[in-house]
Amino acid sequence: MVWLRRMYARPLFVVVGIFRAFSSKAGPGSVSAAGYCFADAGLSPPFSPSSHLVPQARLGMSGGCGYTLAIMNDAIKPGPETPLQAGLPELSVVVPTFNERDNVTVLYRRLEATLSGIAWEVVFVDDNSPDGTWEVVRNLARKDSRVRCIRRIGRRGLSGACIEGILASSGPYAAVIDADLQHDETQLPKMVALLRSGEAELVVGSRYIEGGSADSFNKQRAGASQLATEVARRALKVEVADPMSGFFMIRRDRFEQLAPELSTQGFKILLDVIATAQGKLRTIEIPYTFGSRQHGESKLDSMVALDFLGLVLAKLTHDVVSLRFLLFAMVGGTGLVVHLTALFIAHEIFQMPFAEAQAIGALIAMTSNFILNNFLTYRDQRLKGFAILRGLLLFYLVCGVGLLANVGVAFAVFDQEPIWWLAGAAGALMGVVWNYAMSGLFVWRKR
Ligand code: GDD
Ligand code: MN
Repeated sequence: MVWLRRMYARPLFVVVGIFRAFSSKAGPGSVSAAGYCFADAGLSPPFSPSSHLVPQARLGMSGGCGYTLAIMNDAIKPGPETPLQAGLPELSVVVPTFNERDNVTVLYRRLEATLSGIAWEVVFVDDNSPDGTWEVVRNLARKDSRVRCIRRIGRRGLSGACIEGILASSGPYAAVIDADLQHDETQLPKMVALLRSGEAELVVGSRYIEGGSADSFNKQRAGASQLATEVARRALKVEVADPMSGFFMIRRDRFEQLAPELSTQGFKILLDVIATAQGKLRTIEIPYTFGSRQHGESKLDSMVALDFLGLVLAKLTHDVVSLRFLLFAMVGGTGLVVHLTALFIAHEIFQMPFAEAQAIGALIAMTSNFILNNFLTYRDQRLKGFAILRGLLLFYLVCGVGLLANVGVAFAVFDQEPIWWLAGAAGALMGVVWNYAMSGLFVWRKR
C-alpha cells in the first residue's frame, strides 16, 4: 500500500497545482485579487517600497487592493499636471462589433457629427465577424486616422472586447457604446462634461431613471433585464438603476485600476466595473432612450443568463468559485445518473454480464457528459464539425486517466483512514478536478 500512496501523492500535488493555475485562467472573472495586487505593487517603480506598506485603514480602503489602487490613482490621475497635447484624443470611444457591417459607417458619421467640439478617437473591436465588419472599419480607418480596428481571431465576448478596446486606447476618458445605433450617441458630450468637471468618474447611460426608456424591448426581455438588475442590487449591493447598460463613460485611470479584476467573459462589463469598484466610483446616471435595431440581430441569447449568474457568483465569492467548474461538476452529476440508468438497462433488462454493462454505462455517461459540456460549460469555445470527434476521443482519454486518479486517491485515503465515504468523496473530488483541469487544457483549449 505504501507504493500506492507514493505513486499518487506526487500526481495529486501536481494536479492541484495545475488546477489552481488553470482555474485562474479559465473561470469567469477569475484573476486572483491578492495575486495581482502584489505583482502590481512590485512592478510600479515610481513608488517607494515603504509606500507599499501604507496600511489600508489609513487610506480608508477595505478591499484587498485598496492601497495599491490609491497609490496608482495619484500617479496617473489626469489633470492640470498632465495636460493633453494638441491633437491627442481626450475621448476614446470603444465599439464592440459582431456582424454589424451595415451599422458601423452610420455610427461613425453620427460620432463625427456629435463630437465635433471634442478631440476623439474610435476603436472598433471586432471578433472576426463573418459578415466582414472589420473590412468596413478598416476602410474607414484608411480615410480617418481617428478610426481604428482591432480584429480578434479565435475569440468571442462582448466584455473582453470592450476591455481590450479601452486598454488599446489612451484618451483620459473612455466610452463604450453598441454599434447597432440602439444607444444614443448624442449623450456623449454631456458625459464628457460630467467627467471633465470632476462631478463623476463614471457616467452611465440609463434606461431606468426618469427620462430614460427601453420601449423597444419585448416583454420577455424587459422582465429578464429587470430581474437581473434586482439580483445585482441585492446580491452585489449595486445601487445604480441600470447596471446592465452597455452604454457608459469612465475615467481611464479608474478603469485601468479595475481592469485586472474584470471578467473577460460574458457581456455585463458595466456591472462588473461597478461591483469590482465596491462603491468607490463616483457615479452619475443620465437618461437615454434605448432605440430599436436598424440592421442585423441581437447576439444575446437565452444563455446569457448563465453568464450573468457566473459573474454574480465570481464577485460574491471573490473569484474563488468559477461558474465553469460548477457547471462541469453538475454535468458530472448528471453523468452518474446516466451511467446507472444505462447499467440498469444493459444488465437488468438485456441481461448483459456486469463488466460489459458497466463498461457500456461508463462510455455512454462520458459521451453525454462531453455533449453537455460542449453545449453548456464550454459554449463559448464550442467544438464544431470534425473537432467534435477529436474532442470526444480526447475526453475519453482524460476521463480514463481521471478514473485511475480517482481510485488511486480513494485507496490512499482509505489506507490512512478506513472511512469508506471519506475515501470515496476524496476520490470523486480528485476525479472531477483532474477531468476539469485536463479537459480545459486538452479538449476545450483556448487557441
Ligand atoms: N466584439 C464583439 N464580440 N462584439 C459583440 C459580441 C462579441 O462576442 N457580441 C455582441 N457584440 C456587440 C454587438 O455587435 C453590438 O455592437 C453590441 O455588442 C451589443 O450587442 P447586441 O447583440 O446588440 O446586444 P443587445 O442589444 O441585445 O444588448 C444590449 O443591451 C443590453 C441591455 O439590455 C447590450 O448593450 C448589452 O450590453 C446590454 O446589457
Ligand atoms: Mn443591440
